[in-house]
Amino acid sequence: EKAGYKHFMAKEIAEQPVVLGDAIRHYVQGGAINLPESLDFTSVDRLTLVACGTANYACMVAKYWFETLAGLPCDVDIASEFRYREPPMSPTSIAIFVSQSGETADTLAALRYVRDKVAQVVSVVNVPTSSIARESDVALPILAGIEVGVASTKAFTCQLTVLALLALKAAADRGRIDAGQLAAHLADLALLPGLLNQALARSDEIAVLAERLAEAQDVLFLGRGAMFPLAMEGALKLKEISYIHAEGYASGELKHGPIALIDRMVPVVVMAPHDRLFDKTVSNMQEVMARHGQVLLMTDARGAEEAGMGTWRTLVMPTVPDLFAPILYAVPAQLLAYHTAVAKGTDVDQPRNLAKSVTVE
Ligand code: M6R
Repeated sequence: EKAGYKHFMAKEIAEQPVVLGDAIRHYVQGGAINLPESLDFTSVDRLTLVACGTANYACMVAKYWFETLAGLPCDVDIASEFRYREPPMSPTSIAIFVSQSGETADTLAALRYVRDKVAQVVSVVNVPTSSIARESDVALPILAGIEVGVASTKAFTCQLTVLALLALKAAADRGRIDAGQLAAHLADLALLPGLLNQALARSDEIAVLAERLAEAQDVLFLGRGAMFPLAMEGALKLKEISYIHAEGYASGELKHGPIALIDRMVPVVVMAPHDRLFDKTVSNMQEVMARHGQVLLMTDARGAEEAGMGTWRTLVMPTVPDLFAPILYAVPAQLLAYHTAVAKGTDVDQPRNLAKSVTVE
């Protein structure tokens, strides 16, 4: 079943170009977004996105998309906090629950909490027959196929793809983008399977870096804007399967505390495509290097040319439209965690203390 791969996680990472292509073909047809007609963002005043773990990081990326593309205020919360805080909900808002399994106890309880308090309950799930899918007004499958590895990989990029399409639909419904702009974004999205393949081709190079990372006690991940949740996702992947302590931080927060950790023993992974915030991230990176932190810069060719000097290593990713960079940069983050775990000899697919589906709180 592993189709020649050593681990399910490796297989699932490698499947991403194909499953992402499937999701895009399902949700984009004839040049238009194919989502249920009942899903309409025109008169919605607010969105709430709730999930756990990796799915929560997908929600955090989506917040950047919904706010910048559609101008919709967006709250994101982890389900275990949301459900007990009993937050007031706007009756004209939509609540979106993201879950690979569709059975996560806290996410399901959060869904039940909002049930009669919002205009519509939407779920983004991998298992269409799951409890979360069944109890929502609109259930959108991410079409990733069965995910066996405890560390979520292809489900994450497929969740992001569906959320990106929801954000584009919201932007179109609300008149924030015209038909031409929508078509341009959809054309960009269609580039992703090919770009993901190019990122996967970096696997051997990443395996070499991972040999070094496997010796670290602590690793920091930094990112800005929509790359901030990616930094947290990269850290979560690494700690889950390699048991190395890792933290994801917004680059701008570095000087508010975590910079105290930096010395030559702490690798710092900087996830920074050459976007409008690149210079700011680079100046944070230089603060790390000035304190002898070992920087692994993940960027594109332009970023590498401008800022690749003096890093420990620079990993050059293909150039990707800014909006969809989080989908592409998930791949090197996953590969880095995977190869580090393999170098350490841990149980990649079934890490200690973790379950694939967390059905108890
Ligand atoms: O099935 P769900 O998407 O609701 O699961 C949520 C989290 O338990 C899950 O993403 C977890 O964080 C993964 N092990 C991350 O790799």
